[in-house]
Amino acid sequence: VMATRRAPIVTPDPPTDEMPLLGIDHIELYVGNAMQAAYYYAHAFGFREVAYAGLETGSRDRVSHVMQQGDVRLVLTGSLRPDGEVANHVARHGDAAKVIALTVPNAERAYRTAVSKGARAVHEPREIRDEHGTACLASIAAYGETIHTFVERDDYAGPHLPGFRRVDGGTDAGLFTAIDHIVGNVELGAMDEWVGFYERVMGFTEMLHFTDDDISTEYSALMSKVVSGGGGRVKFPINEPAEGLRKSQIEEYLEYHGGAGVQHIALETADIVGTVRKLRRRGVQFLRTPDTYYDELPERVTAVSDQVDELRAFGILADRDDEGYLLQIFTRPVGDRPTVFFEIIERHGARGFGAGNFKALFEAIEREQALRGNL
Ligand code: FE2
Repeated sequence: VMATRRAPIVTPDPPTDEMPLLGIDHIELYVGNAMQAAYYYAHAFGFREVAYAGLETGSRDRVSHVMQQGDVRLVLTGSLRPDGEVANHVARHGDAAKVIALTVPNAERAYRTAVSKGARAVHEPREIRDEHGTACLASIAAYGETIHTFVERDDYAGPHLPGFRRVDGGTDAGLFTAIDHIVGNVELGAMDEWVGFYERVMGFTEMLHFTDDDISTEYSALMSKVVSGGGGRVKFPINEPAEGLRKSQIEEYLEYHGGAGVQHIALETADIVGTVRKLRRRGVQFLRTPDTYYDELPERVTAVSDQVDELRAFGILADRDDEGYLLQIFTRPVGDRPTVFFEIIERHGARGFGAGNFKALFEAIEREQALRGNL
C-alpha cells in the first residue's frame, strides 16, 4: 500500500483481526425454478454445474444446483414444497440472493464474535459431515432478509458441502475469475446503519463514499458507501435512495423486491470485450450506453483512448482513479422483477467502483424504468 495516496482505499486488517474472512465462499439465490435457472446460468453466463442436492440426495424440502466459474460459485435453490422458507422468500422477493456466504477459518468463532457485537443470530453453529469430511456453518442476519453464512471448510473435500453430490457439468466458459463486489440496496436512512453494522460487527472499514451530488440524474439519485473486509477480499457497496424529481431506481428496487436486498453481483473478468461478445451471443442482455458517452471518454480515461470504438460497439463503460482504470458493464435484471442484475468488471489497477460512470449508468437505467412506467 503506497503512502502517497490521497486517502487509503483498502485498509489492511489489524494484526489482531477478530473476524478473519478468507473470501466470499458462494452466493445462494432462492429462485422459482432452480432447474431452469441452472440452465440459464450455464447456457447464458457460462457456468458449469458442480454439485446438486434434492430428493435423490435426501433433501426433502428444497433442491439446489451449485454452479461454478473460476472462483465464482452460485447456489440456485428452489422449493419442493408449496410453503416454507424458500417458497415464501420467492413469493415475497422473486428470484433473489438469500445468502452471502463467507469462508472463515472458524465458523463458530466468527458467529460468536458477530453475535456478541450485536448481529442477529439466524442459525447456530452446526457441524455437518458426509464421506468427504466435515464442514461447519453458522449464519447471522444482514440487510432485509439476506443472511451471511460463515463457512468453515478446511476439513471438507467434497464438491460443495456435506449432502451435495458431485455433478459432471462439463467445463465452464472461462469468462469470470472471481466475485469483485456485491451491492446491497437498503431503505432510505438505513445506509449508515448498515455501514456501522459492517464496521462494528464484521470489522470492515469504509472505503469510499459518494453523495447524491456525485450520483444524481435529472430524475433520481442515490447515496452509496462501500465497506471492505478480509484484507480487501470482500467489498460490499451499500446504496440508499436519495431525493430525486421522480422515483429513484433504488426505490423501484425496494418496491419490487419487497425491501432491502442484493442489487447486483459484480463478476471480474480478464477480458471484458471478449466476455461481453460471448455473453451477448449466449443471450445475456445488457444496459445500453448512450452513444454520446463515448464522445468524452478519450479525455476522461486516456488509457482507453485507442479502444473507444470497441468499447462503444459493446456499450462498455470506463472509469479511472489515482491507481489506474477499470472497464465495466451492467446486465439488465436477470429475473421477472426489475431487481437483481450482474456487473462485469475488468480492473487495471483502479480499486474504485466506477463512480464516474454512475451518472451514465443511471441515465441508462432510467430509460428502461420509463419504459416500465415506473419513472
Ligand atoms: Fe458495482
